[in-house]
Parts: sequence; structure tokens; C-alpha cells
Amino acid sequence: MKPIRKAVFPVAGLGTRFLPATKAIPKEMLPVVDRPLIQYAVDEAREAGIEQMIFVTGRGKSAIEDHFDIAFELEKTMSERGKDLSVLEPTRLGPGNCAYVRQQEPLGLGHAIWCARDIVGDEPFAIFLPDEFMHGTPGCMKQMVDAYHKVGGNLISVLEVPHEQVSSYGVITPGAQDGPLTEVRGLVEKPKVAEAPSNLIVSGRYILQPEVMRVLERQEKGAGGEIQLTDAMAEMIGTQSFHAVTFDGARYDCGSKAGYIQANLAVALERPDIAEEVRAFAIDLLQ
Ligand code: UTP
Repeated sequence: MKPIRKAVFPVAGLGTRFLPATKAIPKEMLPVVDRPLIQYAVDEAREAGIEQMIFVTGRGKSAIEDHFDIAFELEKTMSERGKDLSVLEPTRLGPGNCAYVRQQEPLGLGHAIWCARDIVGDEPFAIFLPDEFMHGTPGCMKQMVDAYHKVGGNLISVLEVPHEQVSSYGVITPGAQDGPLTEVRGLVEKPKVAEAPSNLIVSGRYILQPEVMRVLERQEKGAGGEIQLTDAMAEMIGTQSFHAVTFDGARYDCGSKAGYIQANLAVALERPDIAEEVRAFAIDLLQ
């Protein structure tokens, strides 16, 4: 079984649900308390043992490259003033640990992943959608990599949502279940509520075999006129093993406004430096 050494972060989307905030800054740079969403995703990847981060970027996303670079002037000034630089430590990704590839047109998530095919090469890889903020210990990808060591093949993280919400997501047809692992028998992107095979939705973390790139190469447009990763994965079911991992933790959809506020509140209430102040304010506000 080949180890999971590489992760793809598709960050070329337009972020239209978060306009005007995302007009000039990428959605992935929105902070949850004091760390941008993309930083949480990279930290989660590192915790899972992943070494190389591959960002699929687009126009207007250069803030992400700057974030993971060395900010020479900032660091020099901070050290001259005797300030602690350790807060910047997780933001450094050396040349051997990151790569950037451009998706020239936002043709969909499936197309964004396909843009990384040469860097991914012939090995299994992880995918992170950074606006899906997965909050738990161990992190979601660590839980998935542990499951991968048991069953191999392809894995997707899933969670249960109220049935009436399924039409916004990729939905699985579940098979046999064994603890957090569920066999995946089918996948459909944004089904009508009445036609959805379950209320288990795909939630932004994947471990896929490299063959998916070959499927994506000839993938037609699907839901929303976009090249869908879900459709490519659905095609692979039956030829390769596919499991879903139910994440033991909380998930916040930070691509939506309400989900983003929830994530900020949840993280703030766990932070020793600000929890007390935020809790008192929230109680006050609600009263
Ligand atoms: P979303 O469906 O959240 O789309 O993409 P979006 O464009 O980011 O946001 P809205 O819906 O307009 O507000 C899911 C993930 O796939 C990436 C996004 O960056 C996000 O991480 N993506 C999507 C691409 O990289 N390229 C695409 O063509 C589409």
C-alpha cells in the first residue's frame, strides 16, 4: 500500500457566496479567529503525515502564495523589536513542500483536481476543500489516513445532514458498515431530495487513487455545468474499493455565512486567551 504523501488543495473557486468579502481576497484566506482557513487545512494535512501541498490556484489568489512564503521584512522588523516569531512557524512551506498550479478557468472541482495531475503523478493522494472546516482531535485527514491503512483504495469523509438539505451536496449510496467505515455503493452530486439515496453527504476530504485523473480527463460537465469530482468517483465504484469515513468531530461549512460565524464562535470559545470574554459577550447579546 503506497503512503499518502501529497495533498491537493483546490482554491481556484470564485467564492461568490461570500461577496463582496471575496472580491479581492481569496475565500480560503478568511480567518477563523486568527488563522486563515487554508492554514487549518495545511496543518490538518501535516498532522496526517502529508509532506507535499499542491495548491490549484486561479487569478486573484496570490495572497495564498504570500501566506506560505517567508515574509522577510516582517520577520526582520519583528526580530529587531524582540517579538516572538513562533506564530509564523506553521506558515512556512519550503520549496520541497509546496507546489502551485493554475486552473485558468473555473470549470469545476473535478477540473481543478485534474490540473494537478502531473505533480500528483502515479500515487494515491489526499484532497482538501479548505472552506469545509473540519474541527476535531485527531483531525479529519488523520482519521482517514488511519482508515486507509486498514482498507486501502479510495476514501471520502461523510457526515449526516437533515434529509431536506441533501440537494446542495454529493450524496452516497451506503453499503455495509463497520464502525466509522461505510462501504460506498454509489455517489450522486446534488440530487433532488426525493431521489437522494441517503442523507450521508461528502464533506470535503478525500483520499483517491491516481486512476481518478484518467477518468477526469474524459469527464463531461455535470451538475451546474461544471466538471464534477463526484461524477468521476462514481464511475470508479465497482472497479476499485470505495469507503466513507464518518468524521468524529465537528464540520462547519465556511463557504456559507452562517457556517463561517459558527466556526469562529466555536473556536473562540475554546481559546484560553479569549474564551471568557467572548462567552460573556455572547450571553449578554442573547439576553
Ligand atoms: P465551491 O462549490 O465552494 O465554489 O467549490 P466556490 O467558487 O469556491 O464558491 P461559491 O459557491 O461561488 O461561493 C468547492 C471547492 O472547489 C474549488 C473551490 O475553491 C472550493 O475549494 N473549486 C471550485 C476550484 O478550485 N475550481 C473550480 O472551478 C470550482
